[in-house]
Amino acid sequence: MRDPFRVALIGFGGFGRVHIRALQAMEKEGLAALHAIAEINQEAYGEQLALWREKGVHIYTDWQEMLAECECDIVAVATPLHLHREMVITALEAGYPVLCEKSAAVTVQDAIAMAQTAAHSGLLCGIDFQLLASDAVGKLKQLIAAGSLGEVKRISGVGLGNRSDQYYQRASWAGKFRIGDKYVLDGPMDNAFAHMLNNMLYIAAPAPGQLAAPVKVRASMYRAQPLAEMEDTAAVWVKTKEGPELLYLATYNNAVNKPHYYRVEGTLGTAVVENNQLVVTKQGRREVLSTQAMNGKTEDIYRNFIRGLTHNETLFSAIDESIKLAKAQNGAYISSGRIHPIPEPYYSRVPIEGDTATVYADIADVFMRCVEQHILPADLAAPWAVDVREVDVTDLEVYQPVSPDQL
Ligand SMILES: NC(=O)c1ccc[n+]([C@@H]2O[C@H](COP(=O)([O-])OP(=O)(O)OC[C@H]3O[C@@H](n4cnc5c(N)ncnc54)[C@H](O)[C@@H]3O)[C@@H](O)[C@H]2O)c1
Repeated sequence: MRDPFRVALIGFGGFGRVHIRALQAMEKEGLAALHAIAEINQEAYGEQLALWREKGVHIYTDWQEMLAECECDIVAVATPLHLHREMVITALEAGYPVLCEKSAAVTVQDAIAMAQTAAHSGLLCGIDFQLLASDAVGKLKQLIAAGSLGEVKRISGVGLGNRSDQYYQRASWAGKFRIGDKYVLDGPMDNAFAHMLNNMLYIAAPAPGQLAAPVKVRASMYRAQPLAEMEDTAAVWVKTKEGPELLYLATYNNAVNKPHYYRVEGTLGTAVVENNQLVVTKQGRREVLSTQAMNGKTEDIYRNFIRGLTHNETLFSAIDESIKLAKAQNGAYISSGRIHPIPEPYYSRVPIEGDTATVYADIADVFMRCVEQHILPADLAAPWAVDVREVDVTDLEVYQPVSPDQL
C-alpha cells in the first residue's frame, strides 16, 4: 500500500476547516493526511495554526512559498472565489493535482483556462461539489439511466436560505462584484446555491461525472440586501442540449434556512427531493427511496479524488465540466442585464439573534408556484419581478461584466 497522499491546503479559515476534518477522516483510513497549510490571515488564525505546527504540519503565510517548498502530493484550495484561477493554475503548473472549492470559477474564461492547464499538465483537477456524492443524486442518476422516469423533461430546484448581515460582514469579498481586477460575483448562484444548479445540470446529463450543456438561458437576478452588490435572489431557466429544461430558484432572503428542494419530471414518473427525502411517484404510487437524500460530504470528494489518482476513477466534478456550469451562471447574468433592486414593501429588515436579516415574506410561496408551472417569477407576474430575455450561451467563452448595473 502506498503512503497516504500529503495534502497542502490553501485557506484555513472558513471552509478550509471542513477540508481539515475530511483529511482527519482520510488519515484514519490511511488515504491522505494534512501536510501543510497556507493562510494569509495569521492575525486571526495564528494561535490555531501554531497547534497544527506542533502536530508536524508545515505552516505558511504565503501560498506560493508553500508550493515552492513543501513536498506534497495534492494541493487543496479553499480560498475565496476570485482567487481560485491563479492558485489552481499555479499549483497545476508546479506539478500538483488540485482539489478546489466550488465554484471553480465565476467566469467561463477562468474555468476554460483552468481546464486547459489541467489538460496540458495531465493532472487531475477536481471541484468540491460534495452534494454530487449524495444518496439522492446517485439514485436519481440510476433511475434516469434505467429509464424508470421515462424521458426527463423538467428539473426544478428551490434553494431557500437565510443569510443575515453578519454573513456579508464576515469577509471582505462577501457579496462583492469585483475586487481589484478580479471578478468575485459572490451571490447565491455562484456560492452557496451553486451546488443546486450544479446538481441539476448533473442530473440532466447522461453519464456520471458529466454536466448537461446549457444552450439557452432566461434569468433575472434580484437584490434587497443592503450589504450586497450582487444578487441575493436568482431565478434562472436553462434549456440544455441534452433536452431537460431546468428551473433554478434560489434566495438568501427566506425567513429560515431550508434543505434543497428538487423535482425531476419524466414522461413516466416524478421524483421529488424534499426535507432530505427522495420520493418517486409513478402511476399514483409513491415510494420513498432515501431518507438521507442530500448527504454528500467533502470527504466523499476526497475519496473520489484519491481513487481518481490511484485507479483512474471518474471524478464527480472535474474542472472541464465546470465550464458548463459557468456558462449557465454567466448566461443568467447576461440575461438579467443587471441586478434588479427589489423595492419596498416586498422585503423587510428583520432582527434575528442580535443581527439583522433581509426577508422576502412570500418568496417560498412564489418559488413553489413557479415550480408548479415551470416558469420564472416574471412569467408568474410576481409584483417585484422583471421581464427577462433569452440568451444563447452555446458558444459563450468570455464574460466581462462592467458593474452590477451592467451585467
Ligand atoms: N463546498 C461547500 O459546501 C462550501 C461551503 C462554504 C464555502 N465554500 C467555498 O469555499 C471557498 C472559501 O469560502 P469561505 O466562505 O470559507 O471563505 P472565507 O473568506 O471565510 O475563508 C477563506 C480563507 O482563505 C484565506 N485566504 C484568503 N486569501 C488567501 C491567500 N492569498 N492565501 C492564503 N489564504 C488566503 C482567508 O484568510 C480565509 O481564512 C469558496 O470558494 C466557497 O465557495 C464551499
